[in-house]
Amino acid sequence: MKKRILTGDRPTGKLHLGHFAGSLKNRVELQDKYEQFIIVADVQALTDNFKTPEKVSQSVCEVVMDNLAVGLDPEKSTIFIQSGIPQIAELTVFFANLVTVSRLSRNPTVKAEIGEKNFGTSVPLGFFMYPVSQAADILFLNADLVPVGDDQLPHIEQTREIARSFNNIYGTVFNIPQALVGECPRLVGIYGNAKMSKSLGNCIYLSDSKEDLKKKVMKMFTDPNRIHSTDPGETESNPVFVYHRMFNPNKGEVTELAERYKKGAVGDIEVKEKLFFALNDFLEPIREKRRYYEERPNLVKEIINEGTKKARKEAEITMSRVKEAMGINYYGGNC
Ligand code: TRP
Repeated sequence: MKKRILTGDRPTGKLHLGHFAGSLKNRVELQDKYEQFIIVADVQALTDNFKTPEKVSQSVCEVVMDNLAVGLDPEKSTIFIQSGIPQIAELTVFFANLVTVSRLSRNPTVKAEIGEKNFGTSVPLGFFMYPVSQAADILFLNADLVPVGDDQLPHIEQTREIARSFNNIYGTVFNIPQALVGECPRLVGIYGNAKMSKSLGNCIYLSDSKEDLKKKVMKMFTDPNRIHSTDPGETESNPVFVYHRMFNPNKGEVTELAERYKKGAVGDIEVKEKLFFALNDFLEPIREKRRYYEERPNLVKEIINEGTKKARKEAEITMSRVKEAMGINYYGGNC
């Protein structure tokens, strides 16, 4: 039997090249080897967007279409919506008994996010405990592997602790899942000073038009210490070269440009123009596939509904095992 994978995204906007490099590319490869489930974590996205639910609801279809556009095949990967699985909320309540407030407050990712979001001392409970709900996402499916970026590792560790604790107290129901950390480091944004992130406005989106792509590439930062095109330049951390190495399939061209750049024998414009062509060639088939789905909203709806129905079936089975183990199956005539 194939091992089961769960991975997913918070729907808070369209997906960008950073998502592609960090997870989507990997997903497309994993779907042939594993039974893959992809969660669109709208309930989790609401934990820090609860005042603007439209931002979340408008992003759900975008995220699904971005996943389909890069090549996820709904015949191989089950895409489902978190809010369509009420058992996740039910499990979260049971799991909350197994986690202490002090344990949650030590989660480094949540700590960092609390700082970034300026919650101060007014941290919403829902946000504070989202790792418990993420444990329910993973455990209701009894996933074997969870492909994630390294910022998610504390959540997987928390999930494992919850699964062990549940199994010890009530009897074994849950598999202990494992994180699968991609080897790809986070992709830098177009200004080179931080990772690509929607909130920083430094993204190239998978759905960007040719014109937008051109504008963004032409205003990318390069080597900040190089003033004239005849100065020797640095290519290792130079974002234009980082993208060339990742997205330009013409390795000969990349090596040749880098050699000239290091000697001060090529201008930024030429390097950027070549990057624009490479990125446009990379994005064009993705845009085309996205257009196919954009023109067929009913097909997208059907993919979402079928995927969520399939995940819900799994949730019903797990939930009845959970209630049986906890001895709370009296509702319905077992008194
Ligand atoms: N927390 C993840 C993120 O921010 C999204 C997510 C929600 C997730 N539930 C999950 C990832 C379950 C893997 C498994 O990207």
